[in-house]
Amino acid sequence: MVMAKTQDKNKEFLELDRKYVNPVLARQAPIVAERGEGAYLYDVNGDKYLDFTTGIAVNNIGHCHPKVVEAVREQVGKLMHTSVCTHHVNYIELCEKLAQISPGALDSVFLANSGAECVEGALKLARYVTGRPSIINFRGGFHGRTHMAMALTTSKITYRDMYEPLFPSIFTAPFPYVFRSPLGNDPKKVVDSCIHELEMLFAQIVNPKQVAAFIVEPILGEGGYVVPPDGFFKQLRKIADEHGIMLIMDEVQTGFGRTGKMFATEWEGIVPDIMTMAKGIAAGMPLSGFVSRKELTAKWDAGRHGTTFGGNPVSCASALASIKVIEEEKLAERAHTVGEDWMKRLKRIAEKHPQVVDVRGRGLMIGLEFGDEHGHPSKEWADKVAKRCFDNKLLVLTCGYKGQVIRLIPPLNVSDRESEEGLQILEKAISEK
Ligand SMILES: Cc1ncc(COP(=O)(O)O)c(C=O)c1O
Repeated sequence: MVMAKTQDKNKEFLELDRKYVNPVLARQAPIVAERGEGAYLYDVNGDKYLDFTTGIAVNNIGHCHPKVVEAVREQVGKLMHTSVCTHHVNYIELCEKLAQISPGALDSVFLANSGAECVEGALKLARYVTGRPSIINFRGGFHGRTHMAMALTTSKITYRDMYEPLFPSIFTAPFPYVFRSPLGNDPKKVVDSCIHELEMLFAQIVNPKQVAAFIVEPILGEGGYVVPPDGFFKQLRKIADEHGIMLIMDEVQTGFGRTGKMFATEWEGIVPDIMTMAKGIAAGMPLSGFVSRKELTAKWDAGRHGTTFGGNPVSCASALASIKVIEEEKLAERAHTVGEDWMKRLKRIAEKHPQVVDVRGRGLMIGLEFGDEHGHPSKEWADKVAKRCFDNKLLVLTCGYKGQVIRLIPPLNVSDRESEEGLQILEKAISEK
């Protein structure tokens, strides 16, 4: 399409978008991105935006990191696809690397394309090796848009509504969302109550011997950036062991340095049976995976699961280069220290502005929850602040069951100057009446 030079290219492309793109795909910022560099995105008009969305926690090392670009360019000229028709070097090397960086003795990897797809695969593995039908998910979790992943998703009604009947034999247990708990701000009480409800589920609704897996995010992502209190996962691990239930940690949003460790599960002092990963794995190339123990995957007969595109050589090259950058530039550690500074600053902002009712997170996965004058979740405030940030060239995303949370997920190598720029815009957006 030929565009006149002086015109607003965003406007023209958005008109075409409205005409041809399926409107089910909800987008946050009304700009058309053309190029990205580090922490910045540039739209088709050449306007520059500081990006604290990182394509939903994907561009953990910033946009178009030169080392990843080089690795991808080189791979594209060498080999782009073989699927399961052969083995290929990058697949094998990446699986070795993922086994090395995963917690505990998780050492057997399957590569797929998207978060939902690795969740589906992990569940198939759990159901196959246990021979059990049922799954327990946790309220507020998000696991994807495909049918099974959607049935496990309870972060917001929009994702499930109108698709009933959903996959059967899924039972939802509570997640310790302390800030919104009717039990008050007592983490231990909230955890105890969640564990009690889980035990009641077993006593009244589903026999634990019929349960193949627990699936849970280490920190609720779409559900509002909710960090569970210490000890919750240790108790879950214990219950899983008692009943032979597989514990699946869904690290799709939390992985690859985001929370200050390579994987957020490492904060919990437990090792899951299966761990899913996607988003931050390959700096923006489509790739996902799940890792388990060889002793389990050895029972999954060849051909019982598979993929055409999963573990594509180009995506794997991107992942290998990106993980190397995360390790060499110590980006998990950086996320931890920068995240602590941000938290302190954001808590000071919250003290001055009662509409910010909670600040929480780990590393550079931080949520600001907004409330109205009664403290009830306020989507209005979150949207207003996100819009003002956008008007001042800062991109942020919302989340939470009412859309009441602004999440801050900058690149892990965000510079001090970029941090300052973004936090100043955010503070101004919050403080305007
Ligand atoms: C924890 C978690 N699991 C799974 C998914 C699904 O990933 P995808 O959109 O790549 O299918 C997401 C996406 O946001 C997620 O945050």
